[in-house]
Amino acid sequence: MIAKLDELRSRALGELDSIDTSSGLEAWRIRYLGRKSALTEVLRGLATLPLEEKRATGAAANELRTFLEKTLTLKEEAIRESEIARSIEQGQLDVTLPGRPSALGRLHPTTKLLRHICDIFMAMGFEVIEGPDVEWDYYNFEALNIPQDHPARDMWDTLWMDFETEDGRQPMLLRTHTSPMQIRVMESRRPPVRVIVPGKVYRYEATDATHEAMFYQIEGFAVDKNITLADLKGTLFEFAKRLFGEERKARFRCDYFPFVEPGVEMAIDCFLCNGAGCQLCSGSGWIEILGAGMVHPDVLRRVDYDPDVYTGFAFGLGLERMLMLKYGIDDIRLFYSNDLRFLRQF
Ligand code: DAH
Repeated sequence: MIAKLDELRSRALGELDSIDTSSGLEAWRIRYLGRKSALTEVLRGLATLPLEEKRATGAAANELRTFLEKTLTLKEEAIRESEIARSIEQGQLDVTLPGRPSALGRLHPTTKLLRHICDIFMAMGFEVIEGPDVEWDYYNFEALNIPQDHPARDMWDTLWMDFETEDGRQPMLLRTHTSPMQIRVMESRRPPVRVIVPGKVYRYEATDATHEAMFYQIEGFAVDKNITLADLKGTLFEFAKRLFGEERKARFRCDYFPFVEPGVEMAIDCFLCNGAGCQLCSGSGWIEILGAGMVHPDVLRRVDYDPDVYTGFAFGLGLERMLMLKYGIDDIRLFYSNDLRFLRQF
């Protein structure tokens, strides 16, 4: 029996020498260590042997099994290494292949313009403050001189969402403009205030090429002693020059907004035709860019600013409209439809 085991050992080792693949090695394992191998058979047959022989054969067979298992592990490693070496050699790296570019993100055109405009006003001493998109009726309308049932409410198509408080249901809404922040800021500070408020605003609107249900506005206001319409003009003319270029002309005309008196609209001379009249400016030579005015005394009273001591100006502009003008974009919906072909152009 012992001799048989010795012969088994040398046969197994002999065969192992010529094996150089994982699959060949697996076949070898089954042949010499598997359930039907000669070695397993010897181990199984031990029970039928006389005691002395059982001891000796058992020890030798177990030793052989351990030896073959160890040899197998070593061989496995050697084969794995040579297989890796072979595959590296076969699939050699082609260092002349062009690399795969990783796509770079970029800022959305609205974000870029928004930051640019904020920078311009910050350089003039304004502070940037943001406010909530969801707003009380009080801030969006009431405190801005637009009481309930006032026809001016029709100027803003509103998305309403009532809110349950301890006093019952309160009218809440998605802010239709950034002007409510005038009230929030002045409520919590004493003059002088010089603030701009960038942010999203919402309108209950059927979308089309010039209307979106969500867009961006930037509100600005300054309140102090002795602020006059001349300060408003100076600030906004300077802003227009810094944004659109030194050569741009600007013009004010009367307009109406309930929270300012007087109210104005500002236009710049058309940068496409330089004021001669073209399609972009509908032949007028001027392009309206924002609404503004002197803060209404009733608005100042609301926040406990004495209108006999303090005065201020305010303005609000729509960002997408400016971008459309600047880049000749004819559909506002392009901004927020996430079409990369459009966004990559900026
Ligand atoms: N909030 C106005 C709107 O959405 C824009 C506006 C006009 C803001 C005049 C102002 C202002 O601060 O003085 O139409």
